[in-house]
Amino acid sequence: MITIKSEREIELMAAAGKINTEAHKLAEKHLKPGVTTKQIDDIIKKFVIDNGAYPSCLNYEGFPGAACISVNDEVVHGIPSNRKLKNGDIVKLDFTVRKDGYESDMTRTYIIGEVSKEIEDLVKNTYEALQRGIAMVKPGNHIGDISHAIEEYAHEHGLGVVEELVGHGIGTEMHEDPDVPNFGEAGKGPVLKKGMVIAIEPMLNLGTKHVVQLDDGWTIVTEDGKYSAHFEDTVAVTEDGHRMLTGE
Ligand code: MF3
Ligand code: CO
Ligand code: CO
Repeated sequence: MITIKSEREIELMAAAGKINTEAHKLAEKHLKPGVTTKQIDDIIKKFVIDNGAYPSCLNYEGFPGAACISVNDEVVHGIPSNRKLKNGDIVKLDFTVRKDGYESDMTRTYIIGEVSKEIEDLVKNTYEALQRGIAMVKPGNHIGDISHAIEEYAHEHGLGVVEELVGHGIGTEMHEDPDVPNFGEAGKGPVLKKGMVIAIEPMLNLGTKHVVQLDDGWTIVTEDGKYSAHFEDTVAVTEDGHRMLTGE
């Protein structure tokens, strides 16, 4: 069931999204060679809790961190650990923040030190693919318009589009209807209406689109070991377009 949020609910989601965005900015300052992903997770957890909110990935279906922290070929759901970041890594911070009963979901891919042009382009193009998707969010458009815009941009740039994981509606629950795939046909799928809120989240790969899950039961990696980038924002449908609830 797709729920329509009131103006009041959207304000609450924006408040959750603001803490999420600020937690990203704080975490980014600490992303340097030598820092462990667990140290980053602790910084995020403390900041969110100190701001009267909850990092709702923590214990979600048993997930053991406040944030999903995925490095290089890890696509999503990386578990914070004693792994030290090093020059040339790319790291994805993906976490939800719940405040006053409402969720927000945001992901950024950060570059540690210097990477090749190919990897820099992967990151830039995945960010741009998200912008192409967001640009389609307005009343009367279909979910498929978002999906198609992302897929088309990814393929123009020779990137693999992960299909097993998709964006989603969001509200009092982290994952609500509808699914928001990163591939599909324009003009298909549910129609966007004022008050719908969705998380759009392209996961794009340098190589194959295929992914596998590690034995830890969480981490999803690319099948060929090539790098993957991920960006995500929470976006509300407004009267005449959309409003960003994260990222600004
Ligand atoms: N934030 C993820 C998403 O974009 C979900 C994380 S699953 C969890 O949908 F178990 F880690 F919480
Ligand atoms: Co997320
Ligand atoms: Co999400």
